[in-house]
Amino acid sequence: MSMAFGMCETPGCNAVASLRCPTCLEIGIKGSYFCSQDCFKGSWKTHKVIHQIAKGENGNKKSNEYNPWPSYHYTGKLRPYKKEPRRSVPDHIGRPDYATHPEGIPLSEHAVRGSAQIKVLDDEEIEGMRVACKLGREVLDEAARACQVGVTTAEIDRIVHEACIERNCYPSPLNYHQFPASCCTSVNEVICHGIPDTRPLEDGDICNVDVTVYHNGFHGDLNETFFVGNVKPEVKKLVQVTYECLSKAIDIVRPGEKYREIGNVIQKHAQAHGFSVVRNYCGHGIHRLFHTAPNVPHYAKNKAVGIMKPGHCFTIEPMISQGTWRDDTWPDNWTAVTADGQLSAQFEQTLLVTQTGCDILTKRCTNDGKPWFMDKLK
Ligand code: MF3
Ligand code: CO
Ligand code: CO
Repeated sequence: MSMAFGMCETPGCNAVASLRCPTCLEIGIKGSYFCSQDCFKGSWKTHKVIHQIAKGENGNKKSNEYNPWPSYHYTGKLRPYKKEPRRSVPDHIGRPDYATHPEGIPLSEHAVRGSAQIKVLDDEEIEGMRVACKLGREVLDEAARACQVGVTTAEIDRIVHEACIERNCYPSPLNYHQFPASCCTSVNEVICHGIPDTRPLEDGDICNVDVTVYHNGFHGDLNETFFVGNVKPEVKKLVQVTYECLSKAIDIVRPGEKYREIGNVIQKHAQAHGFSVVRNYCGHGIHRLFHTAPNVPHYAKNKAVGIMKPGHCFTIEPMISQGTWRDDTWPDNWTAVTADGQLSAQFEQTLLVTQTGCDILTKRCTNDGKPWFMDKLK
């Protein structure tokens, strides 16, 4: 038997040493000799890092060293990660005006800005909306399949981007007021307008994917919040109640109803479960324009203008939060987060007012039209 020894690991201590770090022995790291217990203890803080590296961990240190805004005070735990480069759309795909505007300005929207007039779509335009919304639904369903532990939101954006192109659609968010991606991915305390990045989704996250497609001159807009791995019961409750808020609001949509009534229905249900309604982001008219009249607030006692008529198209997209309704915006000027860092969920559909009620143009056609999570509750 040969006696193993080496030089003490402690910097500056050149003593011959025969004690070995037990953790290094266990992991299989060679060397790691110490001359005494004192030297071992004295070196522990710096030495233990090699265990973490060997295990592929980074210990307490976040693996994301990227912090583009050192002086911004984050409201919650989520941090931005590096973005992937801008994606391009092949020339043969028709695009909205802002896609090629240097500042991403939707000039056609601006031309009717301030007007409360709601467009009544004719049969041809309604057919255009049906097609765009159906394609949008197919794209979101592809994103839903990808929302898993370890997948980055940039990867989800790539899937959305390619699914749009396969269907001859332009991904409406891309370059809208210079938005840098093809969809919005809003994780945990992000209320909406999250920019896809290289953060891998973690077990217990919730992730909203908001897809809008532009096809043959019309936009179809929808979003859903997905569970990533095992989500806490109280977070599942938030997501379920948010879904119910949207369902209950859709139930009142019919000719003659006031747009301002939608917020009363949503806030009543959210509040009954102890949740709050985000006030700074609203539903909107949608057709040839991405965002136009009517404005559709989701909170109670709002002063929204307009009465529903057959041929109107608009979205309802309530954002419901665990704590405060107040929001803050990251310095990227897009990412809207809860002001208290608690979680927020959202669902969105594009609707057409019919003679008797409404058609949910973006409704899920598979799984009986039921939402993806109905079998994942509890
Ligand atoms: N799809 C979002 C909505 O529901 C809008 C996203 S605009 C973007 O209205 F620029 F953030 F992409
Ligand atoms: Co919308
Ligand atoms: Co949307």
